Amino acid sequence: MPVLTAAEAAAWRQNLAASGRRVVFTSGCFDILHAGHVRYLAQAKGLGDALLVALNSDSSVRQIKGPARPVNSEDDRAEVLLGLESVDAIVIFDEPRTTGLIETIQPQIFAKGGDYTLDSLNPEELAALRSIGAEIHILPELKGRSTTATLARMALPENPTTPSASSSSPQSNPSRLPRLGVLGSGEGSNFGVLLDAIDAGTLKAEVALVLSDNPGAKILDRAHARGIPAEWINPGDHPNRFSAEAQQAVSGQFRAAGCDLIVCAGFMRRLKDPVLSDFAGRIVNIHPSLLPAFPGRSAWAQAFEAKVPETGCTVHLIDVGIDTGPILAQTKVPILPEDTVDDVRRRIQSAEHALFPQAIGDLLKTLGPFRALA
Ligand code: GRF
Repeated sequence: MPVLTAAEAAAWRQNLAASGRRVVFTSGCFDILHAGHVRYLAQAKGLGDALLVALNSDSSVRQIKGPARPVNSEDDRAEVLLGLESVDAIVIFDEPRTTGLIETIQPQIFAKGGDYTLDSLNPEELAALRSIGAEIHILPELKGRSTTATLARMALPENPTTPSASSSSPQSNPSRLPRLGVLGSGEGSNFGVLLDAIDAGTLKAEVALVLSDNPGAKILDRAHARGIPAEWINPGDHPNRFSAEAQQAVSGQFRAAGCDLIVCAGFMRRLKDPVLSDFAGRIVNIHPSLLPAFPGRSAWAQAFEAKVPETGCTVHLIDVGIDTGPILAQTKVPILPEDTVDDVRRRIQSAEHALFPQAIGDLLKTLGPFRALA
């Protein structure tokens, strides 16, 4: 079956319905097909009689995943999918949502992968599904299988966390480097010092994946330059908040990449569930003040304006509050009478660059040894 237009897919669905057959609709990028996709699509097909995959176009994949994706073109992705026994038809779509397709095609059944919940489905798509009376199914995800994880393993050929039948056994992987998942919104200078410490052998870890809410963040360029998988996560519409979908995506991607510790290196949005519960006690942040003093944004400027004689930086675990989690390490720096606010910021940053790798190394010693996929 060739790739269909939305109108052709609607006619196809009507024909099937005339003989009592029901169409299952699902959507995705399917950039590098893996076992998780194959099993998911087979399960989705089993919910009805025919499976229609709405495939994100190349430009829509770029919008969701950043400029380095897709790895394979939409034509190739469609061809590979159509080679599967489970897939009966494909529609390629450009829009950020499948709402229009759902309304035109009116599938009887809708399936989505297990990193979603009913609550995290897009409200607009959910409303369209409800208005056409479609059944909605969330199918379980296959742990450790994802395009991101595949790319992570390709970047790290010696990586011992390749999924296998035995990879869930703690004994199967006796000793490996802890895997860091890094989140950042900007420059990434703290990420840079972590990479330097890894290169120097003073920080015994590897960076599995870098995610950013900012498509132009230098932290993504730094990662790409090193061949480290790095992606933009669409934060949602709010300028400062991180949407429920984004929280799901972050947790899903870091879990799929087998990350042991999430490192916030200048990440400017608040993490919530499921990230907090999935990585409880394993999310570390660096903050530019001596917490609990001056939590929140621009902490160096807060200290400068408060005319305190000293400030500093804090490495702490993230909990539900804003900069309230357990403190792991701190460095003090003076605020001198002749200082400008920029002098204070720079002095704090150079203290951060010494403190961060040290504190992360110490934390990893308490979390390890690392034997199994998270
Ligand atoms: C640092 O000052 C850090 O304390 C704060 O954000 C800034 C990030 O800088 N959380 P960079 O992106 O690591 O250069």
